[in-house]
Amino acid sequence: MTKDSKSWRPFTANCCSADDQTIFGNFSRCKTSKSDFSKNIGPLPSFRRLSFSDLSRSSSTRINEDLAQTFGPDLFDFQVSELRAITQNFSTNYLLGEGGFGTVHKGYVDENLRSSLKSQAVAVKLLNIEGLQGHREWLAEVIFLGQLRHKNLVRLIGYCCEDEERLLVYEFMPKGSLENHLFKRLAMSLPWGTRLKIAIGAAKGLAFLHGAEKPVIYRDFKTSNILLDSDFTAKLSDFGLAHMGPEGSNTHVTTRVMGTYGYAAPEYVSTGHLTTRSDIYSFGVVLLELLTGRRAMDKTRPKNEQNLVDWTRPYLSSSRRLRCIMDPRFGGQYSVKGAKEMAHLASLCTSLNPKDRPKMPAIIETLEAIQPLRDMAVACGQWPPSPKSSNKYVVYAPKGNKDSKIVVIKNSRMGVNIKSK
Ligand SMILES: Nc1ncnc2c1ncn2[C@@H]1O[C@H](COP(=O)(O)OP(=O)(O)OP(=O)(O)O)[C@@H](O)[C@H]1O
Ligand SMILES: [Mg+2]
Repeated sequence: MTKDSKSWRPFTANCCSADDQTIFGNFSRCKTSKSDFSKNIGPLPSFRRLSFSDLSRSSSTRINEDLAQTFGPDLFDFQVSELRAITQNFSTNYLLGEGGFGTVHKGYVDENLRSSLKSQAVAVKLLNIEGLQGHREWLAEVIFLGQLRHKNLVRLIGYCCEDEERLLVYEFMPKGSLENHLFKRLAMSLPWGTRLKIAIGAAKGLAFLHGAEKPVIYRDFKTSNILLDSDFTAKLSDFGLAHMGPEGSNTHVTTRVMGTYGYAAPEYVSTGHLTTRSDIYSFGVVLLELLTGRRAMDKTRPKNEQNLVDWTRPYLSSSRRLRCIMDPRFGGQYSVKGAKEMAHLASLCTSLNPKDRPKMPAIIETLEAIQPLRDMAVACGQWPPSPKSSNKYVVYAPKGNKDSKIVVIKNSRMGVNIKSK
């Protein structure tokens, strides 16, 4: 599926009022949308500073020299010919997906490619370079991911900068993106426990970024950027929009407004003021998607249901109402108390006042406390959601209907109602 078929996309606005100096130096070309924290893991080391403004203006030879000097053996500097060879010439058979910045292909490296690189599957992102914007995102990705290492961040293995070509080589994530699991036709429904595990993993990745000496604002937290390992460990990818946060007494930085509709915090969209609390809002939106199985923004739904935050708000404070918006694909196999806690957390995260939003360590604590709960709705007599709907739900993916993701058939005594989701 191409990016154009999605109803929600990365956007840019207020482009020329930019002040992205913190990371990129004076780089304000205007262009539209193409273009643990954990007890176990220590604090993020300070960044070895790279001069973004120097690098963003340099020739490819100079960039390669600077990156090699900065990252040494931590990142591999590949040639296009090598990446062509490992992806069968970027064959569509090896296509993993396509985003706003280009296609992603699966490839295999073996020990003959580089002596210090072990044999493994990789994902190669081929950036669609159009002017400086693509280069800028490529550079941000190399600089952030090259320096950040955490079990909940996808690992960047290397990069390629050759003439006009810009590529990135990542560890391959066998289970793809959370977006594919939650919303794609034919995808098996993710069980409650797995959704919780993913939420906690993604929260730890975000907490790691926010907990840095100089916090990193991720700015593009969404289901397509949460990649999944074989055991559903979540890893954040895509640092093209990431931003070094404010220091000292400053509470925010002002930037070009960039992000994805439905996920971006309202105060950020209206003022361009970017803080770590903008990421917390997006995190809350993803929690709502995990609870309901609905997209942050879905133009195919009735007007009042298109924006997930607005639609769910009246349902989040009462268990009785919450049942009505829980993903029917759970089939009642979710913890009632856990769902209530998660809904409350999502509601706090998406508070209109950024100061009311919790911080990542508190979010992780809440989610981890939900994990042991076993009061499944179906066993507590709380599923189906109301006596009216005490019919059997069958979930299947329709053939030949590109617009519907999933169809829920409700067998009622009166007949069969088919409802497109
Ligand atoms: N390291 C990886 N391992 C496996 N699959 C990957 C990897 N990176 C990306 N993908 C796949 O490629 C798809 C496209 O990723 P990409 O980051 O380019 O775009 P996106 O996140 O869908 O959209 P956007 O441009 O809005 O960020 C992902 O949704 C995922 O399915
Ligand atoms: Mg992405």
